[in-house]
Parts: sequence; structure tokens; C-alpha cells
Amino acid sequence: MKEVRVALIGTGVISHQHMERYSNIPNAKVVAACDIDKAKLEAWGEKYQIKELYTDYREMLKRDDIDAVDVCLHNNLHVPMALEVLKAGKHCYCEKPMAASYADAKLLYDFAKTCDKELSVHLDMMFYPQSRVARKMVEDGELGHVYHARSIGLRRRMRPGLDVPPPMFSRDFITKKWAGHGALYDMGVYHISQLLYILGTPKLERVTGHTYQEISYNGKPAAEAGMEVEELGVGFATYENGLTLDVIESWAIHMDELGPAFLVGSKGGLRLTEEKVFGRSAPSLKFLTTKGTADVDIDLKTGSNAMTEGFLDPPSRFYANDQACWIAYLSGELKERYDTAWLALQTMLVSEGIFLSSELGREIRVDEIEALSQSTAIREQETEWGTFRYDF
Ligand SMILES: NC(=O)c1ccc[n+]([C@@H]2O[C@H](COP(=O)([O-])OP(=O)(O)OC[C@H]3O[C@@H](n4cnc5c(N)ncnc54)[C@H](O)[C@@H]3O)[C@@H](O)[C@H]2O)c1
Repeated sequence: MKEVRVALIGTGVISHQHMERYSNIPNAKVVAACDIDKAKLEAWGEKYQIKELYTDYREMLKRDDIDAVDVCLHNNLHVPMALEVLKAGKHCYCEKPMAASYADAKLLYDFAKTCDKELSVHLDMMFYPQSRVARKMVEDGELGHVYHARSIGLRRRMRPGLDVPPPMFSRDFITKKWAGHGALYDMGVYHISQLLYILGTPKLERVTGHTYQEISYNGKPAAEAGMEVEELGVGFATYENGLTLDVIESWAIHMDELGPAFLVGSKGGLRLTEEKVFGRSAPSLKFLTTKGTADVDIDLKTGSNAMTEGFLDPPSRFYANDQACWIAYLSGELKERYDTAWLALQTMLVSEGIFLSSELGREIRVDEIEALSQSTAIREQETEWGTFRYDF
């Protein structure tokens, strides 16, 4: 089993989840890390017993004993840093959303296709057994002609950096400069990408939508507390073959439930549900159809089946999450890999469509989204270690 030597850029909150996952991937070896916050970096190095620590990513990328780099920075730094990583000849795993604008995401996607290095984007939910089973059912025609799907994301009052302040969530989440966008891009990326994956990544035609900032913070407009991005995004997208998708994604809303995500076809529908597995909630599925004159519901226990699947089909461990899959592909254990960057790009396209439609006050076609999307990525970053210039 070939070892894959990994370095991380950004040792903030999400880096710890990444480290936990690498600790469960036998041939992933984290060898170095970089952060401009020296104190945070050193505490991180201490915790994981990693001695190769850098405050300047350029120094770290010069090392020739690093195969792959994991970018754990904020949204508007994803593309600039991922480009630096690929240009340095390393494989790149990038946090979600792929970028804060479709234009930036497309630039990165196209560049990655020109190098012989692998780009993967963190998209957890497509790796759920729930998603694999649903996708297979759609592919096998068990739902008939699939004509509508619903993407749901509900946080009642959980604006990161505001309702849940640092150190749990940095305030960068609510700034235009670093995050670019709010709920729609931050959490929508998980829910929308899961449905697009299940639906076989259909081709977008047009979108209408709206983004909102209405909920106050501590009795005052949230903007006064530094909230610069949307807390809610809603949209309606039309894809090829008459497929439609509606989206609602919230960080804050005066509502306690929005119902389940689902997809429906001429022969059957799938509701994305949850089940208890050893007392913990796991993603599951309900198939709704008719048999003769009767309505029939079938619970597909994708949560509890996941364990059995793992025993019967050992390679399924490569699909435990996107890091496991990426490392397995880099080490040659997995011969084919789903293109998460393509799925992330298609998710950016519809999110950007909702945002631009809201700005323009009308429905927008896919060619308009592609033409109007503007780069928001950081090109110059002042740090105490000097100015980083991202040249792209
Ligand atoms: N926090 C979460 O629960 C969570 C979950 C999933 C995904 N994410 C995504 O992960 C990304 C990072 O989120 P986070 O919560 O870890 O943020 P964070 O603010 O905790 O960490 C970001 C780190 O990047 C460092 N940094 C900034 N510029 C740098 C540079 N040029 N070189 C090296 N280090 C640099 C900062 O000092 C900071 O330590 C975001 O895009 C977010 O959407 C976060």
C-alpha cells in the first residue's frame, strides 16, 4: 500500500476534522502544516506531534517529499492557494465551497485539467451510502422519469461567527472579503451537491432565486454586528429533460422545520430520511411507489446496511468519505474516482445563478451566469510574514 504524504495549509477549526479522518486512513501520512497564525500552528503541531511547521506556504511547497496538500483556508483563498499547490506539482484537496464565485471555481477546474495532478473538493454528503443507493436507483430507472427534487438546509439561528462566535466559528464566515457568501454557498454546497450527484449531475438551463438578510442580532440589524452575507437563499432551477430543483438554505430563519429533501419520478419517489444506528442518527432513504392500486412505502436502511456493506465489500471503505477516496486513488488502490471538482463546479453554477438572479431581479440563463460571474478571489494577502501575491 503506497504511502501518500500530505501537508495541510490552514490549521483552523476544520483542519482537526481532516486530521481525524487521516488518522483512519492507514497510508495517509501527514508530514507538515502551514498557518500564518504562529501560535495556533505551534499548538496544532504539538497536538499532532508534527514538527515540520511553516508560516509561509511557499517554503512548504518547495519540499519534494510532499505528494498532496490539503487546503483548509476560507472560501476566497481556496482557488488562489489550490492553484499554488497544483503549480508546485502537488495533488490538491480543497475545502468547500470550491470558491466564492463560479468564475474562480471554473478557473481552478480548467487549470487542474491541464496538470497531471488530482484536484478533489470536500463534498461529504455524496459519500453517504444513502446517496450511492439513491443514485443507483435513479440510474436503474426505478423512479422512472425523475422530474423534481428539493434541496433543504435548515439552521434556525446559527450564523457562524455571529450566533456561534469564535473560537467555534471564525468571523471570516460572515465577511464578503473572506467568505464571499453566506448560507447558500457555505451549507447549500452539501445539500445541492448531494442531489445533483443522485440525479447524475444534470445540465443546468436557468435559475431564479433570492437571497435574504432579515434576522436581527441581539435586537439590532445583523449588518451592524458585521454580517455582510446572506443568511437565507431560495431558488428554483430548471435542468435538461424538464427536471426542476428547488433550494432553500438557511443559517437563520424563524422556522423549526422545512420538511425533507426528496426527489420524485413518474414511477417512484425517494425521501432522504434518517434512522438510528446504535443510538446515532444516520442518513437513510424511503422509497414511495405504487403496487397495483396500493401506495407502498419501503424503508431502505442505508444507515444500518452501511456496516454490512463494509464487511461484504471491503473496498467500500474507500468511500467512507472524500478524503479516504482521494487518498485511495492517489495511492493506486482505487482505479477510478468520481470527479468531486466537477460536482462542486456544477453546485457553484446553480448557487451563483440564485445569487445573480437575486441581484438582477429576474430569471437567469446558464450562459448569463457564466458570463456575469465575477472573480472575488484574494490576489494579495498582507501577513506578518510579508505579502503573499497569488499570481493567476
Ligand atoms: N468550521 C467548520 O465547521 C467547517 C466545516 C466544513 C468546512 N469548512 C470550511 O473550511 C474552511 C476553513 O474554515 P475554518 O472554520 O477551519 O476556518 P478558520 O478560520 O478556523 O481557519 C482558517 C485558518 O487559515 C489560516 N490562514 C489564512 N491565510 C493563510 C495562508 N495564506 N497560509 C496559511 N494559513 C492561512 C488562518 O490563520 C486560520 O488559522 C472554510 O472554507 C469553511 O467553509 C469549515
